[in-house]
Amino acid sequence: MMFTEENKNLLLEALSYIKRFNDKIVVIKYGGAAMIDEQLKHSFAQDIVLLQSLGMLPVIVHGGGPEVSKAMEQLGQEVSFIDGLRVTSSENLKVAEMVLSGTINKEIITHLNTFGGKAVGVSGKDGLLIEARKKQHAGGVDLGYVGEIESVNPELLLVLLKQGFLPVVSPIGLGKDGVTYNINADTTASRIAVALGAYKIIFMTDVDGVLEDGKLRGQLSVVEAEKLIKKNVISGGMAPKVSAGLFCVKNGVESAQIINGTDPHSVIAELFTDKGIGTQIVL
Ligand SMILES: Nc1ncnc2c1ncn2[C@@H]1O[C@H](COP(=O)(O)OP(=O)(O)OP(=O)(O)O)[C@@H](O)[C@H]1O
Ligand SMILES: [Mg+2]
Repeated sequence: MMFTEENKNLLLEALSYIKRFNDKIVVIKYGGAAMIDEQLKHSFAQDIVLLQSLGMLPVIVHGGGPEVSKAMEQLGQEVSFIDGLRVTSSENLKVAEMVLSGTINKEIITHLNTFGGKAVGVSGKDGLLIEARKKQHAGGVDLGYVGEIESVNPELLLVLLKQGFLPVVSPIGLGKDGVTYNINADTTASRIAVALGAYKIIFMTDVDGVLEDGKLRGQLSVVEAEKLIKKNVISGGMAPKVSAGLFCVKNGVESAQIINGTDPHSVIAELFTDKGIGTQIVL
């Protein structure tokens, strides 16, 4: 193979990032929408194991929207969303927890560990990682067993990271009242990132980033993002994602990026090139 000037520059660029990321916690929100085929799931797992071998401390928080909806439909349950947030009945909750903490979480663990990772699946219930309460939604709409996070206790994650394990978190929380809550995975990832003092958070989804009139916004400031949410340009599942990114940059996470996880190895392109990809949320 010819080793071109361009190859060399790219390699040097990538190498310069490795030192910067050493021992830094990077939270990666792996959206259900990006988990589309086996090939992609494998390349994701490969990338994450590679990041860890380079000295980075990745923490995965996953969603699972499409798969949760599919399971509910198969069981004849109603699926509904309000403002990008899932409405969860007590019947829905059982399915959501089963699919998120069971099927999806273990599938991710399987892939990571097949590629040589030491991944450990935890739900927000484990180690009391996520204490939640019922989420109150604007306009008095009842979202059912959808929770908002009261506090994050990151000790378990820190223990795992210290011992070289790779935590994979499902977005389920536990209330003081013993009630289980389904929590938006973007919100969960952002709260965990802040609690861990993460250096960076990456949201992997199924679009290139925040789109405005069909065009990608490479960067979005807090003020602009809040305006676009208000104008409903950012809606559906993108709204909690952008809000989660805003929460991170306002609370000390240096970088928050929304990228297209359906693009193979996008996480590597984002982390190891100057240009990066997707939408960066800045203060
Ligand atoms: N302005 C916008 N730019 C880009 N996407 C937008 C915008 N407004 C709404 N969206 C929608 O947000 C979706 C991404 O959020 P969604 O909740 O569906 O996926 P996810 O968060 O990656 O997965 P999961 O919810 O399973 O974790 C996009 O597919 C798109 O339909
Ligand atoms: Mg979502």
